[in-house]
Amino acid sequence: MEPADTGRRYDAIAKWWQENTHENYGMPGLERALRFAPAQGHALDVGCGSHGRFIRRLLAHGFEVHGVDISSRMIELARQRDPGATYHVADICDWTLPRPFDFISAWDSTFHLPLHSQEPVLQKLCAGLTPGGVLLFTCGGGDAGEISGSFQGHDFEYSTLGVEAFVRILDDCGCNCRHVEYDQYPENHVVIVAQRK
Ligand SMILES: C[S@@+](CC[C@H](N)C(=O)[O-])C[C@H]1O[C@@H](n2cnc3c(N)ncnc32)[C@H](O)[C@@H]1O
Repeated sequence: MEPADTGRRYDAIAKWWQENTHENYGMPGLERALRFAPAQGHALDVGCGSHGRFIRRLLAHGFEVHGVDISSRMIELARQRDPGATYHVADICDWTLPRPFDFISAWDSTFHLPLHSQEPVLQKLCAGLTPGGVLLFTCGGGDAGEISGSFQGHDFEYSTLGVEAFVRILDDCGCNCRHVEYDQYPENHVVIVAQRK
């Protein structure tokens, strides 16, 4: 599925997402990643969605925060709820990061990318970190490939390179892998924290 199609489907459920996402979802992973991060600087939340819990925690940490999402409705709702961040409507596959970041999160967003975009986007996010900057992202923990699934009445697609390939790319990009966790085991949902050397 092309990213623009994914964005249109998220437009349709953006309000539902804002009202129904659990306030604590992903927070243990974010807290773990923040332990490696500098106390202040600039943070980017990729595929930030409309709920805003990552944005609010990053603001509270002391970062100047940017959020990017391909869904214009997600961004509209995120901006209304948390106007203290800077927002961008863009596809992470072809977006140029506006500056280097000390922290980048991509929670349950890049797993929607087409398989062929996984490696270039991960390379882009690694290159977008400052020295010592931290990247947190989630990925599928199964074999490399693409799968589809239904959510809130819409079909979505997901892809993964497999955990070992993601870790190899991080190493190739000059990042140390700090944490890998199947946090919802036996679901194939994996949290990865990396830090640029
Ligand atoms: C499952 S939601 C997660 C939202 C948020 N990270 C959270 O945990 O609440 C996935 C988000 O990723 C966004 N997304 C998917 N593909 C994207 C892309 N190519 N570029 C930017 N955002 C994307 C979707 O629009 C959606 O808001």
